[in-house]
Amino acid sequence: MSVELEEKTAASDDRRRPEPWHEPLVFERSGAGKIGYSLPPLDVPEALAIPENLTRREIEGETEISEVEVARHFTRLSRLNFSIDEGLYPLGSCTMKHNPRTNEEVARLPGFAAAHPLAPEEVSQGTLELAWRLEKVLAELTGLSRVTLQPSAGAQGELAGILMVRAALAKSGNPRTTVLIPDSAHGTNPASAHFAGYKVRELKSNARGTLDLHVLEEAMTEDVAALMLTVPNTLGIFENQILEIARLVHAKGGYLYCDGANFNSFVGVAKPGLMGIDVMHMNLHKTFSTPHGGGGPGSGPVAVTESLAPFLPRPTVERLADGTFTLDDGRPDSIGRLRTFLGNYGMFVRALAYISAYGNRIGEVARGAVLNANYIRAGLTGVYHLKYDAPSMHEVVFSDKKQAERGVRGMDIAKRLMDYGFHPPTISFPLIVHGALMIEPTETEGKPGLDAFIAAMREIAREAEEDPEIVLRAPHTTPVRRVDEVAAARNLVLRWRPEEGRKT
Ligand SMILES: Cc1ncc(COP(=O)(O)O)c(C=O)c1O
Repeated sequence: MSVELEEKTAASDDRRRPEPWHEPLVFERSGAGKIGYSLPPLDVPEALAIPENLTRREIEGETEISEVEVARHFTRLSRLNFSIDEGLYPLGSCTMKHNPRTNEEVARLPGFAAAHPLAPEEVSQGTLELAWRLEKVLAELTGLSRVTLQPSAGAQGELAGILMVRAALAKSGNPRTTVLIPDSAHGTNPASAHFAGYKVRELKSNARGTLDLHVLEEAMTEDVAALMLTVPNTLGIFENQILEIARLVHAKGGYLYCDGANFNSFVGVAKPGLMGIDVMHMNLHKTFSTPHGGGGPGSGPVAVTESLAPFLPRPTVERLADGTFTLDDGRPDSIGRLRTFLGNYGMFVRALAYISAYGNRIGEVARGAVLNANYIRAGLTGVYHLKYDAPSMHEVVFSDKKQAERGVRGMDIAKRLMDYGFHPPTISFPLIVHGALMIEPTETEGKPGLDAFIAAMREIAREAEEDPEIVLRAPHTTPVRRVDEVAAARNLVLRWRPEEGRKT
């Protein structure tokens, strides 16, 4: 380890991982007669017999294990994990930021957490008001008119947005067939457009990594329903010609859809509505710091202009003249319901708590995210190759081009980072950067964490140059080393079968 890394990690915290240990599967700890609870024998008459068809049957081969073994097993597993609570988690495009604990406290208040979704409106005024307030604040931040909170993820928000565009075009008697999407877009964009019944046409980015106006002009016909543009795009670059882009799209009667998953880079600084954007989804689990854990629950609200508002999913939350709140289910042009009830309500509470904590200083979120990404960029420039050198917003995309000369690829670098105690960055995405290493530190990271990450990345680059084998054989400190990822994806074995023993 270089002196530089030693100094940096000592100044912060040395996050290199210790040697791995073998943690058997919980099934392998099972032993006949072990039980996970201890209750005294029943010495009173049984009050209510459980009907036979509802009683649990003993399953042959069921795991029998004591409570203390269960507690230790899962605690040990959790220590093998990488988490945002341990350190910087540079997974580009995912915005893995710290989730303030106050938000958790607020979301657990019984008035919110125990509210029944079928409770009548008279006793649900507080929960409805919170949803209404969140809608208002998101409308203010986006500069758009109305917002639906229903979608459960960014991708579902995209689908909702494109369905609203389709409904508006159909209503105006001008249905169209195609959606334009740049080659730097997130994979969910073409999937959502296709799901909504559109053909997708891909637009090639220019040398700056942004949308090429000539390419757009040529593709933007009167058969195009919308351009789906990620702002800033997945290279972390702002579409600096957005006003001209909006003009070209609107001139042909199309809609400008903004994938606002990266809103964390300009929230509180600029308003998408003022840029000519008609419809935009946001990811509460990215910009507004609601947890991602285990894939969700996410929340992907969609903001729209006044002209798209009639098509919002129903029901909408409305405030009546007397100040009370109600659900409006009678919207005739609505695209309908996207999911049960109001959406992932707990996420609304956390997001509103987060936004309220900043108040009108919310632009600090964006400034911090941009500053941190550029700090990492400056610390690694010259060490890793940067294909597009336009200014970075919230993330920076390097490539493995320099290290590939020694046979070391992005995957190897990502694996080696785990030995240094960091979750790997996103690799091989966006597709337009060969060997991409997509790094997003987020605004909640302090300087020591950024310095430790930069030092680790520099050290790996040195290793790749002087001793590539150490990187190629990484990780060295995880219980499972290299897995055959292609075989694992093609031959998905998710079940442990006792008769076959342990699956590795
Ligand atoms: C740019 C972009 N668009 C869309 C999505 C999809 O969001 P979700 O994963 O919530 O469906 C993401 C997710 O990270 C994203 O980064």
